[in-house]
Amino acid sequence: MRLVEPILDEALATAIDNAVIMFKKRGEWKKLGMDSLREQGAAMLFYGPPGTGKTIEARWLCRDLGMELQEIDFSQIGSGDPGELARNVKKLFYQAIQPDRHGHPSMVFLDECDTMLVSRAKLGHSSLWMLEHINALLREIGKYPGLVVLATNQKPEFLDFALERRLIGTFEFKVPDYLTRVKLWQAKWPRKIPIKMNNAEFESLAQFSLTGAGIETAIINWVSDTLRRDGTFSLMALTGMLFQAEHGKPFNPNIEQELMKADE
Ligand SMILES: Nc1ncnc2c1ncn2[C@@H]1O[C@H](COP(=O)(O)OP(=O)(O)OP(=O)(O)O)[C@@H](O)[C@H]1O
Ligand SMILES: [Mg+2]
Repeated sequence: MRLVEPILDEALATAIDNAVIMFKKRGEWKKLGMDSLREQGAAMLFYGPPGTGKTIEARWLCRDLGMELQEIDFSQIGSGDPGELARNVKKLFYQAIQPDRHGHPSMVFLDECDTMLVSRAKLGHSSLWMLEHINALLREIGKYPGLVVLATNQKPEFLDFALERRLIGTFEFKVPDYLTRVKLWQAKWPRKIPIKMNNAEFESLAQFSLTGAGIETAIINWVSDTLRRDGTFSLMALTGMLFQAEHGKPFNPNIEQELMKADE
């Protein structure tokens, strides 16, 4: 599994760090008697648009906490065999609860679980078969003694009581802010591209409102396009591509650069 270090807005990173402190500093937490205030079983919900780092953050967090990971991607589970879903969920929680070498349960990561968190009232006729499985999943989460992380694109309007009781935080992953985008461009930039980049150039690229995944795709498309042409890398061409994608019209360096400066 690919482990990518997430670059998150500072407020979001701090909020997540705070929420998991009971797992990060178990000893101190216990010494202070905090375990009498909160059970060990806890859940966190990550929600936000695609490509904002929810999946990589869950995996990175797990490693950071020194936990084993049990993960399931609900988008991979077809509606064809309802029994398969039930079996997978059961197996996942069974494996997760087995103590690791420190005697702790694994972190359970339920990725892309939008369909599992829909309000029951909103389940269409064709998806009613899921009801039983949703209930089973919520029961498992409700009684799980470790950390469960759920990731979805939409913030669910309704959460089951058992889940809500366990939630130690609901975290919105937005399109990153400008400063975070500068860091993302700097981190993602392939060092061997024969252009010497300075901070001002990264800042200029960061004006475009892209997610981490969007920045990676932009670089890939730009490099592909450059190689297809004559292999001469041009920042202006990259800016042009980004501008066209964001504004839906071609980039005119004489006019647009002035406009972009005025935006700053
Ligand atoms: N904040 C970030 N920091 C570093 N890399 C990022 C970030 N966001 C996205 N990426 C890059 O984009 C890729 C996709 O990110 P990820 O799968 O975590 O997005 P996601 O929010 O889970 O999207 P989806 O909702 O589609 O599942 C990652 O593999 C990573 O390379
Ligand atoms: Mg994801």
